[in-house]
Amino acid sequence: MWGRRLASLLEGGELLGLIGDLGAGKTCFIKGLAQGLSLREEDILSPTFTLIQEHRGRLQLFHIDLYRLDTASLDDLGLREYLFSEGIAAVEWFERLREAEEIDFLAVRISYSSANSRRIEFSAAGERHAAVVEKLRNRFA
Ligand SMILES: Nc1ncnc2c1ncn2[C@@H]1O[C@H](COP(=O)(O)OP(=O)(O)OP(=O)(O)O)[C@@H](O)[C@H]1O
Ligand SMILES: [Mg+2]
Repeated sequence: MWGRRLASLLEGGELLGLIGDLGAGKTCFIKGLAQGLSLREEDILSPTFTLIQEHRGRLQLFHIDLYRLDTASLDDLGLREYLFSEGIAAVEWFERLREAEEIDFLAVRISYSSANSRRIEFSAAGERHAAVVEKLRNRFA
């Protein structure tokens, strides 16, 4: 639900960093995001073997999962091109990115609260992402 809500506020060029333990619900959140961008939710896979999947809908979505990398750098895998594109990048295990502290992104922190609910916290680095979080708050909180 929050993934869909967030999607409705995105214009392209946003970087979403998903942070949460194994099984927290990062991929599920991105499925909601995909729905909100008029993509097929079924197409969003847990990218265990593929690190990067590209989808094209209202906006282009780059779904990236850094789990299999202990640390990643912007200069690996051409990540820079995906993370700073005209589309939307949604990155699972964002904290594994070495430059995570230095770049602007919208953090989506997901934690387990019970078997069938999760706690989701949004926070932003940079003006552009802060504006999105502010809209989320005004519109949906
Ligand atoms: N918001 C939610 N409410 C209730 N259950 C959820 C929610 N989000 C995810 N789940 C459940 O948690 C499980 C794991 O979800 P998901 O695959 O999205 O986690 P993940 O964070 O992507 O895991 P990984 O670290 O392996 O990539 C799924 O079985 C899903 O049904
Ligand atoms: Mg996942």
